[in-house]
Amino acid sequence: MTILPSPDRRSQYLFPAALASLMFIGCLRVVLDNLKSSHQSHLFYKSLSGGYQTIRRPIHVSNDEIIDNGCNIFEGKWVWDNESHPLYTEESCPLLVKQVTCQKNGRPDSSYQNWKWQPDECNLPRFNALKLLEILRDKRLMFVGDSVQRSMFDSMVCLVQSVIPEGKKSLKRVPPRKIFRAEEYNASIEFYWAPFLVESISDHATNHTVLKRLVRLDSISNHSKQWEGVDILVYESYVWWMYKPTINATYGNLKNIKEYDVTTAYKIAMETWAKWIETSIKPHNQKVFFMTMSPTHLWNWEWKTGDGGNCFSESQPIQRPYWGTGSNLDIMGIVKDVLGRLRVNVRVLNITQLSEYRKDGHASVYGERKGKLLTKEQRLDPKNFADCIHWCLPGVPDTWNEILYAVLLQDYRKF
Ligand SMILES: *[C@@H]1O[C@H](CO)[C@@H](O)[C@H](O)[C@H]1NC(C)=O
Ligand SMILES: *[C@@H]1O[C@H](CO)[C@@H](O)[C@H](O)[C@H]1NC(C)=O
Ligand SMILES: *[C@@H]1O[C@H](CO)[C@@H](O)[C@H](O)[C@H]1NC(C)=O
Ligand SMILES: *[C@@H]1O[C@H](CO)[C@@H](O)[C@H](O)[C@H]1NC(C)=O
Ligand SMILES: *[C@@H]1O[C@H](CO)[C@@H](O)[C@H](O)[C@H]1NC(C)=O
Ligand SMILES: *[C@@H]1O[C@H](CO)[C@@H](O)[C@H](O)[C@H]1NC(C)=O
Repeated sequence: MTILPSPDRRSQYLFPAALASLMFIGCLRVVLDNLKSSHQSHLFYKSLSGGYQTIRRPIHVSNDEIIDNGCNIFEGKWVWDNESHPLYTEESCPLLVKQVTCQKNGRPDSSYQNWKWQPDECNLPRFNALKLLEILRDKRLMFVGDSVQRSMFDSMVCLVQSVIPEGKKSLKRVPPRKIFRAEEYNASIEFYWAPFLVESISDHATNHTVLKRLVRLDSISNHSKQWEGVDILVYESYVWWMYKPTINATYGNLKNIKEYDVTTAYKIAMETWAKWIETSIKPHNQKVFFMTMSPTHLWNWEWKTGDGGNCFSESQPIQRPYWGTGSNLDIMGIVKDVLGRLRVNVRVLNITQLSEYRKDGHASVYGERKGKLLTKEQRLDPKNFADCIHWCLPGVPDTWNEILYAVLLQDYRKF
């Protein structure tokens, strides 16, 4: 069992000063992504065939790819395995945006790519892109959330794209969505920008307000109409809420703006989301997952005798029980409570604990700020410029997808 020390509640909301600037950056980056997209369409030219050939090739799932019912795959440890990991490289995945290609951006160490998540009581099946594509045949898989969730999307695209020949895959931006298509499988892997899940003034995919936040706690339909009928939905929402202890929001009348306690606002928003899930999801045809918060590593005094630093220059995972104060237990409790009361089965991808150990996995100073790689001067000032929220790829988000794959493979065999 994992020990969860009670966090220092005062510090839970402090991190977002740093965060606000990072998120700002995230959005500018999307603008730049857009500008680049015409270039990228050369790389992934769209299939012209029009109709789809969907020749089903049933996949074989062996017993050792199946996880014992009793095994909690989220409890375990990171083990060194430079033979099996990383599952792809920066070079083998030309779709990676430069915000996450830490090696190319000058990160001197690469061992953060070589760790494998090892559950205590079972093994994760080895990721097999062909099997996943077969599972996704004639289906849509959609990740919904913020920039952390977008990195899970990016990771998933990298995990599968290398087995698809040129001309049979494409990546398009249809704001607020990004859509990767595998033509021969008639499958799509998508990302949908909705940092609060419910509606807010930060919903514009490429030009969202960051410092000023206003959430509509009871409105979700602008988003949810684009989630309808999606076969596999993976939700996540956390870091945007955690800017200050309170957040401006409306409930009902749009003119009636009030400051809500963040936990109260989060709970109401989750209930709005849950109501949509209850009324719109068809459990026989659709699967829903909820991913718990992605941890941050903003203060190194939390895992060692700190010097006021952060995740910068960390090159090893934490190998003892650890839970940082950035992962708010009240929010975790709300997620648990709301999902627990749903009649529709929403499965939890509880990646918080396993990612907590990975202080070494963040982009740090080898990422971007305001859509540009850090300058030499900025790199020399990690206290102000390190990004300890987003992750390098290949890296930790690949493991989240290995876990999602394990669950989908299990489901596939059941039917
Ligand atoms: C893998 O790790 C082992 C142990 O650290 C090391 O001796 C070996 O050189 C590494 N292999 C590669 C290909 O990096
Ligand atoms: C292609 O996939 C979509 C779902 O993404 C599905 O609605 C459609 O029926 C599929 N087409 C064929 C020809 O199977
Ligand atoms: C939702 O859509 C309606 C109609 O397009 C628009 O008036 C409204 O501003 C949207 N809400 C948000 C939060 O964007
Ligand atoms: C972004 O939105 C703001 C306010 O809505 C607007 O003033 C600005 O021109 C927009 N920028 C771009 C690049 O569209
Ligand atoms: C809420 O909005 C008011 C008015 O714009 C602003 O003064 C206040 O700082 C906002 N509160 C938060 C928590 O952002
Ligand atoms: C996720 O796992 C942690 C332990 O690592 C647990 O405390 C928490 O309740 C779990 N969250 C959910 C939503 O199940």
